[in-house]
Amino acid sequence: MNNPWDNRAEAYRSSVTHATDADLDIVVEMCNPHGGVKALDVATGGGHVARRLRVLGAEVVTTDASPGMKPDIVCRAEELPFADGSFDVVVSRIAPHHFDDIGKAIGEMARVASRTIVIEDTQYTSEEVEAAEKLRDPTHVRSYSEEEWRELLESAAFEIERVEYFRKTHDFEDWLARCDCTGEDAERVRELLAPWSSDDGGTWSDVKVILKARKSQK
Ligand SMILES: C[S@@+](CC[C@H](N)C(=O)[O-])C[C@H]1O[C@@H](n2cnc3c(N)ncnc32)[C@H](O)[C@@H]1O
Repeated sequence: MNNPWDNRAEAYRSSVTHATDADLDIVVEMCNPHGGVKALDVATGGGHVARRLRVLGAEVVTTDASPGMKPDIVCRAEELPFADGSFDVVVSRIAPHHFDDIGKAIGEMARVASRTIVIEDTQYTSEEVEAAEKLRDPTHVRSYSEEEWRELLESAAFEIERVEYFRKTHDFEDWLARCDCTGEDAERVRELLAPWSSDDGGTWSDVKVILKARKSQK
């Protein structure tokens, strides 16, 4: 069976909200990239984090479950084919809500990170928003609250160092089109997201939580 993400590669490479919004600056800064830093970008999608880290001198390996995204290594976040502590920093941006087994994925990221994990993902809002996300994109599994993220990272022996929030505004048409959501499904998604939509229905917004965690010394 084809991975649905293979057909979305170009849409995610050229997505303005993925390529240029200022949340990317926060993620890049948290990774503290410079010459000699070894970084792993998990679920790289259009490769926006990796590109920025490389420009700043980091040595970056990209992974993604979709061959169409053309990562360096095709693999699931739940099974990273790297030795323990292979990377100074392991980062995953706006992707963990797609992982089937979030505990296993964070466990793997923690295993291959020697120092830092940086996560950005959509903050959990409500079951209505979850239903809209799944209808628009059946690969959506679940979004998590800051508290759940703290538990996930602390269970993997990482301590939270910094947390930031970023409100992201989505052009409704572009956002639906990236996942081929049309017709009645698109109408239902718009209904479910009405409380978070602009008056003219042109945009809606969600909040991203961005966390930096360091390996516990205890
Ligand atoms: C929204 S895109 C990622 C965006 C990208 N990180 C960025 O900063 O622009 C989500 C990506 O997660 C990948 N993905 C979904 N489930 C995955 C899994 N279990 N393991 C690894 N990658 C996965 C998809 O193939 C897709 O490329």
